[in-house]
Amino acid sequence: MTLRNGPTLDEKKDIGGVITDVKTRQNTVTMDKFPVPVWEWSRTMLDIAYNYPHRVEDFAKSFSRNQFYAKCWMLEVLRAEVDYTIDRQTRWWILGSWYGTLIVPLIWQYFGTLKKIHMCDFDAEALEVAERLHGTRRLMTHNIDVNWEFDRLSKVKTDIMINTSCEHMYPMTDFKTDALCVFQSTNFKDDYAHINAVDSLEAFEEQVNMTQVLWKGEIPFHDYDDHHKRFMIIGYKA
Ligand SMILES: C[S@@+](CC[C@H](N)C(=O)[O-])C[C@H]1O[C@@H](n2cnc3c(N)ncnc32)[C@H](O)[C@@H]1O
Repeated sequence: MTLRNGPTLDEKKDIGGVITDVKTRQNTVTMDKFPVPVWEWSRTMLDIAYNYPHRVEDFAKSFSRNQFYAKCWMLEVLRAEVDYTIDRQTRWWILGSWYGTLIVPLIWQYFGTLKKIHMCDFDAEALEVAERLHGTRRLMTHNIDVNWEFDRLSKVKTDIMINTSCEHMYPMTDFKTDALCVFQSTNFKDDYAHINAVDSLEAFEEQVNMTQVLWKGEIPFHDYDDHHKRFMIIGYKA
């Protein structure tokens, strides 16, 4: 990786050098209390500023207040209201995973999972950043277009299949899996990438075509208006 002008020799060791796994270095007690190791984002922001400058804005958006709300909401509902059996052996796959900025450390923190978390995205560079952020010891990335991989993904052996990017891809209607599905979408249509935004929670429920819905609900999609919603449905398709 070639670095742009700027960082000092010491910074280079951190930015472009060896990728350290989260939590392989010693923390203080206060640091251990942080639900996500936010200092890793400092290292990653520098890495991105020097090596992927076109990504700065996108990466910053991945840990906005709104993203915090949505990802924490999902894991809190999962843990407290849906599945009390999730444990360290639970297997997780994430479709349209982006950088996994919040979801990956939150899963580690909440559930202490011992299995590798699988991240799928058609954006190879986002996955590259994800590996530099989280390390690869507890993570596996798959650079695939979910739209064309329904069959292969259906055969994946996993306990939980997350897709918080349903608005970005083909409907999950015919996607088959035995796993507990945790799907999110939105009625926000003013983003060119939202090719599959839905009008309502009911429309989303119809689209995801679950045989058993365990939980459904909605929250505001933005911090600045209430009529755009983020929908979530949790349940089984088989
Ligand atoms: C903007 S991000 C996340 C949006 C989502 N609302 C959230 O808050 O988690 C959407 C991600 O889905 C990925 N994506 C979109 N369509 C995809 C597809 N067909 N296959 C794989 N990844 C896809 C994009 O590359 C991007 O990383």
